[in-house]
Amino acid sequence: MLEGEAAIASGCETCHSIGKPNLDGSIGTCTACHARHQASIELAREPETCGQCHMGPDHSQLEIYRESKHGVIYNARREHMNLSADPKTLTVADMPVPTCATCHMSGQEGLAVTHDVTERLSYWLFAPVSEQRPTYRQGRDEMMRACGNCHSQSHTERFFEQAEAVLTATNDKVREAQAIIEELRADNLLTPAPFDEPIEFLWFDYWHYFGRTAKHGAFMGGADYVQWHGNYELLAKLVELKEMAEEIRAHAD
Ligand code: HEC
Ligand code: HEC
Ligand code: HEC
Ligand code: HEC
Ligand code: HEC
Repeated sequence: MLEGEAAIASGCETCHSIGKPNLDGSIGTCTACHARHQASIELAREPETCGQCHMGPDHSQLEIYRESKHGVIYNARREHMNLSADPKTLTVADMPVPTCATCHMSGQEGLAVTHDVTERLSYWLFAPVSEQRPTYRQGRDEMMRACGNCHSQSHTERFFEQAEAVLTATNDKVREAQAIIEELRADNLLTPAPFDEPIEFLWFDYWHYFGRTAKHGAFMGGADYVQWHGNYELLAKLVELKEMAEEIRAHAD
């Protein structure tokens, strides 16, 4: 990797080792979410626990959550909630606002607890251009069932329609930027090596930071992340990208 072994060990692997089998054959680092003592379920339901890894400009889930209505109310009402409720009988009365776990993992009001965090997802949001997952329908239904414990069907449907509209618009913008890079490559105006020219960093940030942020913000209720950290940057960076591409072409002529 371009940044060297030391950066991989204390960077990438600190967050990414979570999915690997342990020596005893069990899957995942349980202690990434559960501590080694009794308050363990409570800890796993805390947004900050997931936010150890799910933060920063390329996956701003913690920041988006904090900004969302859910996060704001959670932070104000946390001490009145029963975060240590038994997972088998967790109710809306125990946790009247959702944390990351509630939407992605918990068995609130009779839903089944899952440790497969992909089970309730419908899109590959982290991809440059987002497409439906093969389990789109099932993922969507299960997530909507979780929302349905607290919201009406029409509220939830409206929310997902709006989020999908942001996704479609973001895909269009990312495709436009991608075409500029691909045309430069086709005309041999970029070196074959990745990450050795400024425009390659700009393109990477384009989808990896701003495109993702807009989509994640839309699906988790973070308006500022859809707009100022997302769409505004997509607009500004596309202008920059086009100007850089023109300069590269002018320079080559
Ligand atoms: C702060 C924790 C953190 C660090 C450090 C980190 N990642 Fe990630 N990475 C994540 C999270 C969280 C996701 C899931 C993003 C999502 O789905 O929104 C992710 C997603 C990815 C993905 C896309 C999903 C997949 O499984 O294909 C790739 C590829 C990736 N990371 C590679 C890397 C590499 C390479 C490094 C080191 C240069 C790195 N990451 C460093 C947390 C991290
Ligand atoms: C990504 C974070 C995460 C990881 C990693 C994780 N858990 Fe969990 N686990 C949770 C959450 C969140 C809950 C509580 C769900 C809820 O709100 O009811 C939970 C609940 C549980 C429960 C109670 C479920 C029930 O039905 O009573 C057990 C047992 C458990 N985890 C064991 C494990 C073991 C063993 C591992 C490692 C192999 C592990 N967990 C890894 C987040 C995690
Ligand atoms: C130790 C770091 C870490 C912690 C803690 C963590 N995650 Fe993750 N999570 C990741 C990484 C890395 C990925 C990227 C998936 C991969 O490639 O393994 C990921 C992926 C995901 C995904 C997307 C899966 C996909 O297919 O795109 C969801 C949803 C998720 N995590 C939710 C949670 C929740 C909820 C919690 C807390 C209960 C949590 N995570 C705690 C590191 C972490
Ligand atoms: C109100 C419910 C809700 C809460 C709370 C919530 N999420 Fe999500 N999350 C969603 C929805 C909905 C999606 C988009 C699912 C889809 O259709 O693919 C999503 C998407 C994600 C993804 C993106 C996977 C990808 O494809 O890139 C990750 C990772 C994730 N959430 C982690 C978290 C973390 C970490 C927290 C807490 C800091 C959190 N979520 C809080 C509902 C929620
Ligand atoms: C455990 C209960 C709970 C769950 C689960 C839940 N919410 Fe909420 N949600 C709330 C509460 C409480 C509020 C704050 C309502 C208020 O007083 O304004 C809220 C507010 C909202 C708001 C902003 C205000 C509004 O009413 O428009 C949106 C949007 C929203 N939720 C969408 C969702 C979506 C989408 C899901 C599922 C992915 C979901 N919620 C899951 C409890 C929940």
